Amino acid sequence: MKQSIRAVITGIGSYVPSKRVSNDDLAKLVETSDEWIYSHTGIKNRHIADESEATSDLAVKAAEQALEKARCPASEVDLILVATATPDYLGFPSTACIVQDRIGAENAAAMDIVAACTGFIYGLETARVFIETGTYRNVLVIGAEVLSKITDWKDRNTCVLFGDGAGAALVSAHAAETSMKDSLKRGILTSYLAAYGKDAEVLLRPAGGTRVPFIPGTTPPEDLLLRMNGRKVYTFAVSVLGKTIETLLGKTGLSLQDITYIVPHQANVRIIEACAKRLDIPLEKFFLNIEEFANTSAASIPIALTEMEQRGLLHPGDLILTVGFGGGLTYGGNLLYW
Ligand code: ACO
Repeated sequence: MKQSIRAVITGIGSYVPSKRVSNDDLAKLVETSDEWIYSHTGIKNRHIADESEATSDLAVKAAEQALEKARCPASEVDLILVATATPDYLGFPSTACIVQDRIGAENAAAMDIVAACTGFIYGLETARVFIETGTYRNVLVIGAEVLSKITDWKDRNTCVLFGDGAGAALVSAHAAETSMKDSLKRGILTSYLAAYGKDAEVLLRPAGGTRVPFIPGTTPPEDLLLRMNGRKVYTFAVSVLGKTIETLLGKTGLSLQDITYIVPHQANVRIIEACAKRLDIPLEKFFLNIEEFANTSAASIPIALTEMEQRGLLHPGDLILTVGFGGGLTYGGNLLYW
């Protein structure tokens, strides 16, 4: 009987800071309103880290929950991947190394993934390949962001959109017998990862890297913060979400009817609605929780999956399609059996 290794999510967890900021709270900071924000984005609240909290603090809490759920001791983790656009430190040490120490995963390799909001999707695919090749047995994939610390709180075009949070998934090796169809209905089936670097400047932090180094007294402080051309990201997002869904279905020969839930990166409800309309997908197929958490970048998909699991929406054998886009520009998705 032939055996193949499947990469299965065996535990999932999330953490969001307790401080909850409503649209009305933001209307005291910039010229905006609950009506404008909700009607243009679907967002009502976001959770914001306190001054002492960094990305690794959120990541550790999500990771510990995922490991507990999987009943996997930290010492058995082989690799930690932290997808983040807001690392604790610029360049090094990686946030993954800080998490490795804090959770006591002394046997794990550790590295960050820089793919902005698509980071968790890139992370799951990286985990799948390491596991299916037999290199590693347990890969901890974390999406974690403290976007509030790179947000321009004077810019109403961007500050209403983002929130802080972390989500984590333990991906583990499971042997499946290829002669038994049902035992193959587990784990990550395939992914589609893509990038469009031509539009890198549509979403970026202009200064602080080696292209435009930070020079005290010279660099405008706002150049260290997130800048975005919202219109361009919107158009890009609607087109690549549809392309990703169609590519994943085309690769596997599966149809939309086979999918239990589409779990999109939570950036803007209007982007999802436009994609649903274009592909003629009922909106109910998409799981959305952006209303409470806003856009938490790489953390949004694992936060959504954790909430879905806690609410009893996910069952073994359910087919889940994740799809996202973000700075880079990057985009892609995963197709997996729960
Ligand atoms: N409150 C009130 N008015 C506002 C606000 C606000 N918070 N923000 C913008 N406006 C105004 C603008 O100034 C503009 O006014 P003007 O016509 O007088 O110039 C008007 O609203 C319309 O602005 P648009 O930019 O055309 O608004 P749009 O309907 O496109 O919505 C939005 C803007 C929500 C940013 C939309 O373009 C969008 O969602 N883009 C994608 C953003 C995204 O997904 N980013 C995440 C990418 S990945 C990552 O997270 C790293």
